[in-house]
Amino acid sequence: MTVDAKQIEQATLSAIASIRAASSLGELRDAESAATGKQGVLIGFRRELGSLEPEQKRELGALIHTAQEQLTEAVSVCRAGLEAKARAQELEADRLDLSETIDKQVRPALSRGHRHLVSQTRDALEDVFCAMGFSVADGPEVETDWYNFEALNIPPAHPARGMWDTFYLDLGEAETVLLRTHTSPVQIHLMEEAVQANSLPIHAVMPGRCFRRDTPDARHLAAFHQIEGLVVDREITFADLAGTIETFTAAYFGPDIHSRLRPAYFPFTEPSAEYEITCTLCRGAGCRTCSMTGWIELGGCGMIDPAVFEAVGIDSKEWSGFAFGFGIDRCAQMRHQIPDMRALIENDLRFVEQF
Ligand code: PHE
Repeated sequence: MTVDAKQIEQATLSAIASIRAASSLGELRDAESAATGKQGVLIGFRRELGSLEPEQKRELGALIHTAQEQLTEAVSVCRAGLEAKARAQELEADRLDLSETIDKQVRPALSRGHRHLVSQTRDALEDVFCAMGFSVADGPEVETDWYNFEALNIPPAHPARGMWDTFYLDLGEAETVLLRTHTSPVQIHLMEEAVQANSLPIHAVMPGRCFRRDTPDARHLAAFHQIEGLVVDREITFADLAGTIETFTAAYFGPDIHSRLRPAYFPFTEPSAEYEITCTLCRGAGCRTCSMTGWIELGGCGMIDPAVFEAVGIDSKEWSGFAFGFGIDRCAQMRHQIPDMRALIENDLRFVEQF
């Protein structure tokens, strides 16, 4: 007799031991095939059963069957354990510890971002105008020639076009399309909408980005921000315009900064004026920044030209109004005494973090 119960029992125990000893799924697979595979010990025993007496054959056959079950069971228990371990290792490897805190001694705390000075300035300007009863509107940065120029009383060959160096876009459109050179086209949109909706009067400010083919310097950027103001109502006079500008100036820049209006020309306003404020660097005494005048130009303003009212279908006998437009970046520059406006777009953290 070549096989007995003892042998089967021992072989089973040692197979179970090597299954349990497997420390990876690969080792487990090897131990499993050594025990129950085609070349495994159990197959060997089974082959020998043929030469046994029926009684023994049944007895040992049953033993082999039980051993097979025990081994299968041991393999599946170990596999589950090893798989769980592998999964845990994988998770550990790409763990994202949300509770992790920065040790300030080891690494200084990461600074939190904040709104850029220009955005803060736009918000502050909106706040002042909202408090004065204006609403806030906006319009597209890409405009047609009609909105940016023609409806503003600047016909195609008008010499005043030279006031704005324009980026024209080639979009294959029949109409001339451009990057708006000022926020004044938003006036046209608002007036058209108000006529449509029969919702005059208008008291609105319109902040936004504008573009001019200028070479940037200490006081100019090619992409800059303006805030436009528009009032269309009954019996509006130049005194309303001047009063609004002065009220705004004191509210935003402080009580010792004043405004003055000097005669100027804009095709869409008549009369027109340049809007200047006390130089914030020298408080009016005269310095290099204000060319010794004590005043700094912020923008333009004036009474809406009847030709503009006509373009949008507003009866200039019934309605009158004023408009103004000035630089948001210039306001930030004046309020914070920034010598060179280009600092606003250079994203140098040493500058940006000061505000
Ligand atoms: N749009 C003019 C400019 O950018 C400023 C302005 C606005 C003048 C409104 C008058 C009225 O130069």
